[in-house]
Amino acid sequence: MENNSKPILIDGRIIAKTIKEEIKQEVQNILAEGKRPPHLVAVIVGENGASLSYVASKEKQSKEVGFTSSVYRFPETISEKQLLETLDFLNKDPEVDGYIVQLPLPKHINERKVLEAIAPSKDVDGFHPSNGGRMMLGMPTYIPATPYGIKQLLERSEIETEGKHCVVLGRSNIVGTPMAILMSRNSKKANCTVTLCHSKTKNIKEICSSADILIVAIGKPEFVTADMVKEGAVVIDVGIHRVKADNEKGYKIIGDVKFDEVAPKCKAITPVPGGVGPMTIVSLLDNTMKAYKHERSSIMSKEKTYLKWYNK
Ligand code: GUN
Repeated sequence: MENNSKPILIDGRIIAKTIKEEIKQEVQNILAEGKRPPHLVAVIVGENGASLSYVASKEKQSKEVGFTSSVYRFPETISEKQLLETLDFLNKDPEVDGYIVQLPLPKHINERKVLEAIAPSKDVDGFHPSNGGRMMLGMPTYIPATPYGIKQLLERSEIETEGKHCVVLGRSNIVGTPMAILMSRNSKKANCTVTLCHSKTKNIKEICSSADILIVAIGKPEFVTADMVKEGAVVIDVGIHRVKADNEKGYKIIGDVKFDEVAPKCKAITPVPGGVGPMTIVSLLDNTMKAYKHERSSIMSKEKTYLKWYNK
């Protein structure tokens, strides 16, 4: 059956702005009660351009919602021991609610060791194994920013998920794997049948063609073409690639999905830029607010609050 209606464009900029306004309002309420605002720290090692701009954006957006924002900058030469000492300091500082260690780290630093040194209660990236485990079990935790942002996009765009076939392309620890788990959970905003595809998947085109919801985080420019998408599917594109273009800037940003040919077949689709991208930092701010309110740690035994979180 042909999809004759125009696809819904899932506008991440507008949804992110709405969530930011909600967080800003919550901060104002906190301040009105005479309490200190939430405090988010970013730790950055070295001068990686993408990391610097990401951290700058986190700092700017934290301040926009009224958070206290700090950045700990270290040279590439910092030792693993010195970095671990810094994390120990942040873990113990009661004025720091949450922090992130920007990745990638230099080669002489063991990334896994660093991520495991972050206090799980302050791990607002959700990268600590304890938080990953809690997510898998449906317990209160910090969900990594990109999958959390995508869940928000689906929910706030009122995309039906229950009983749908959700195909996730890509199995990274940060996006694909947590995404697949979240979409399969028994909660009213998920309840999908999930297929997780990766580099060794054989019949990727066939599987994609059967997706009601296709979430693409494969890291390959315009990998998904129209022949891989079912009429009426919902397509979420996580890719961000800068490619040369014949325009003033000399480049343009494209995603993992060939938007122009895929969009006409879709019920709804995220653009690149302006889809998933704007949601990631907002999700980090949301996790920081949860950290401030101790929502991860204090509600284990309070079933009602637990369910409220879980069904969100
Ligand atoms: N590098 C790229 N994305 C991320 C992220 O979400 N968190 C951290 N800490 N580093 C990153």
